[in-house]
Amino acid sequence: MIKNDNQILVIFGASGDLTARKLIPAIYNLFKKDYLPKKYAIVGVGRTPYDDEEFRDKAVLNNPHIKREEGKSVEDFAKLVHYHALDTSKKEDYPGLSDRLHSIDDEFGTNCNVIFYLSVPPSLYGVIPKHLAFAGLNKEKTGWTRLIIEKPFGYDLQSAKELNKTLLEDYREDQIYRIDHYLGKETVQNLLVTRFSNSIFEPLWNRNYIHRVEITSAESVGVEKRGGYYDGSGALRDMVQNHLLQLIGLVAMEPPVKSDADSIRNEKLKVFQSLRPMTTEDVKQNVIRGQYLSSKIKGEEVKGYREEEGVNPESRTETFVALKFFIDNWRWSGVPFYIRSGKKLPTRVSEVVIHFKPNHHRIFSQSQKVNSQNMLVMRIQPDEGILLKFGMKVPGQGFEVKNVNMDFLYSDLTDAYVPDAYERLILDCMQGDATLYARGDSVESAWEFIDPILKAWKDDHSIPIYGYPAGTWGPENVDELIEGEHMMWRYPCKNLAEDGIFCEL
Ligand code: BG6
Repeated sequence: MIKNDNQILVIFGASGDLTARKLIPAIYNLFKKDYLPKKYAIVGVGRTPYDDEEFRDKAVLNNPHIKREEGKSVEDFAKLVHYHALDTSKKEDYPGLSDRLHSIDDEFGTNCNVIFYLSVPPSLYGVIPKHLAFAGLNKEKTGWTRLIIEKPFGYDLQSAKELNKTLLEDYREDQIYRIDHYLGKETVQNLLVTRFSNSIFEPLWNRNYIHRVEITSAESVGVEKRGGYYDGSGALRDMVQNHLLQLIGLVAMEPPVKSDADSIRNEKLKVFQSLRPMTTEDVKQNVIRGQYLSSKIKGEEVKGYREEEGVNPESRTETFVALKFFIDNWRWSGVPFYIRSGKKLPTRVSEVVIHFKPNHHRIFSQSQKVNSQNMLVMRIQPDEGILLKFGMKVPGQGFEVKNVNMDFLYSDLTDAYVPDAYERLILDCMQGDATLYARGDSVESAWEFIDPILKAWKDDHSIPIYGYPAGTWGPENVDELIEGEHMMWRYPCKNLAEDGIFCEL
């Protein structure tokens, strides 16, 4: 375990949902496990005028997301928490914050090491760091300063570039931590370990043996209370540009020289730079977008997307997207990659599926469907694990072949504690490890791939947006994207091994 420097964590957006649901519980878990440094303080920042006690009550003592357990007490943890009210958009408020941080630093002995966590609306991502710099809070005199920025990082390529430029005026790239919570998931990190710590997969991990790669990220929930945000975003920006392309980066990258931040992030960048850009014609052929319609799930009426709170009743924002694309490099030339992501699908599941090519010459009878051939399923969530499908002889006469499963489930490791993504990511930033954070150049590269799709949708009104009844697997024509006869997506069930069943409905 690396020793953590003494430090202060400043959370902008302290009374927001993310702080209560994820950030404070994650830091409390680190506290319980003794991962916090000896001298540590948290300062919540927001517009609402709380005093320290009121904020402690709200954020910690009465926080329903904090699991109280034996041992370290929540009351002790609450003593580390402070609050400072300020109007984030007014730069003249920031010298006051600087004074407050200096006095907390004197009291706690945190050596002027500070992380600023921006859990605020994206319109403030450029503003807050500028105002911090105005108050001299970007300067590293005796300690260090780091910024954590939530997604979405930009709205398109141009805005992402502008944001990077603005931040780099006052901060170095190694001070900027762009969070993508998917990279904090244990199962996502395990993609690297599966690939690079085993000798059996790497020789097969290329165009010679892999037929196609499929990534599904399905959610059974709709937009819930986030209609206002989501309607200006859509599935492509909300899930694909960041989380799912990051998964592609890990699945497709070359072996890094070392497991450090630069080596891994350099290899991921090369993958993004090799994504074949789409023309409008490609978008028409290879991208399908959809929006959920009202329906009945388990006998209950479910609203359509356009009836959701905060959503334009004539909205053309996609709640589902499926795309086929290529990575033009030596390893992947000609191998189609597929991504599918949507809300109000039959179940919540995220997985990466590697479909291996069939034998060139078959001597045993087996199904014609390549879908039922060798397949490696890496389940990100839920029911986290890995499943390998391969052919076995059906007992009895002749050589009939049937696919069977060999699986590993994380839940079998009974004593393993699987930390929440935010716990892992905050701890990494505390230790100055940016491996699991997105670097500026790769964020821009990912936008370079996404931008032409957004542009085609915006400019060409003949490109349809299909309706799909809530609780189904998206528009009916998505299977047509998969290249080859008898091919279709893997229709996963919540349970890792039982596929082919449209569960939960
Ligand atoms: C967020 C998106 O980044 O990821 C949400 O904004 C989405 O729309 C969420 O629901 C999914 O995260 P997870 O960890 O539940 O797969």
